Amino acid sequence: MSILVIGGAGYIGSHTTLTLKERGYQPIVFDSLELGHRKVIEILDVPFVHGDYGDLGALNRTIKKYDVDAVMHFGAYASVGDSVVDPAKYYESNIGRGLVLLRAVLDNGIKNFIFSSSAATYGEPQIVPIPENHPQKTTNPYGETKLMFERILRDYDHAFGLKSVSLRYFNAAGADAEGRLGEDHTPELHILPLVIDAALGRRPDIKVFGTDWDTRDGSCLRDFVHVYDLADAHIRALEYLKKGGSTTAYNLGNSYGTTVLEAIAAVEKVSGKKVTVVPAPRRPGDPGRLAASCDRIREELGWDPKYPDIETIIAHAYKWRESHPNGYNS
Ligand SMILES: NC(=O)c1ccc[n+]([C@@H]2O[C@H](COP(=O)([O-])OP(=O)(O)OC[C@H]3O[C@@H](n4cnc5c(N)ncnc54)[C@H](O)[C@@H]3O)[C@@H](O)[C@H]2O)c1
Repeated sequence: MSILVIGGAGYIGSHTTLTLKERGYQPIVFDSLELGHRKVIEILDVPFVHGDYGDLGALNRTIKKYDVDAVMHFGAYASVGDSVVDPAKYYESNIGRGLVLLRAVLDNGIKNFIFSSSAATYGEPQIVPIPENHPQKTTNPYGETKLMFERILRDYDHAFGLKSVSLRYFNAAGADAEGRLGEDHTPELHILPLVIDAALGRRPDIKVFGTDWDTRDGSCLRDFVHVYDLADAHIRALEYLKKGGSTTAYNLGNSYGTTVLEAIAAVEKVSGKKVTVVPAPRRPGDPGRLAASCDRIREELGWDPKYPDIETIIAHAYKWRESHPNGYNS
């Protein structure tokens, strides 16, 4: 089965591409390399198209050439803060280009689509762990684009029969257990790589935004999920759609939640190095507690995370980051 992976040179897309390949699928990576890495393509050793998912011609040619059966869409701008400063960039790309991608999907008769959605669609949670039927009241343009795209996908099912699964990731983390792939964002904004950099002496300290939240130790609570388990969920979602599954959305996390201070302590334990913590004021728009209820995907798709433990997640991330001081350019 031929799967077009939009954004497959990025963090989650690359791990999913590798997992697809290892399980006997034929992934084709389609990526602009604006945020992804050419080195990833070498490592993956799969067909690659250097293109923008807003380019209808390039998409049509690729889909026809590789006789694509299904699409996994990881491509997006994904920084909450940046989306507040420049919402046009987010709506024009995540939505505008996303609609072009869907046009190519419809025109070529592709019926199955898997979308990288986000916990950001929920906004400030009313209950934690958050179930899928929790109100989606996102608080920033990035989250709006993810929510809007989920709604577009539902409408495209009703009108055109396009079946989709939107996977709402919480905090993607970790790296390939064998150390072939890792996390390399520029700039890096995710908490675990930043804490690891502090442990490795690549940054002086780590700021903890808010120490008076209603959590075990006053720092924010987040739900880290291993990137391999995200990849596995994509393949389960694909198999579900191939068996005639209907359009739906699932949360992806580990439900127990880890506070930022607990994550820092876990990095110290894994690395054997001390991290300097600098308490800082809360950031506007940051929810205090975010954790996913994942009962639905467990029950309906049999998803059972292989690496739920935070120390394992950190150990995999640490191993890759330590050996790649300049990311994929190391
Ligand atoms: N990382 C997380 O914790 C997290 C959490 C929730 C949701 N998500 C979503 O998951 C997806 C993947 O996240 P990631 O961390 O792997 O991001 P990433 O930036 O590492 O990967 C995105 C990839 O998409 C490519 N891309 C972007 N715009 C493109 C375009 N117009 N045409 C072609 N390719 C394009 C980039 O070059 C990059 O390789 C995103 O949609 C993001 O919103 C991520």
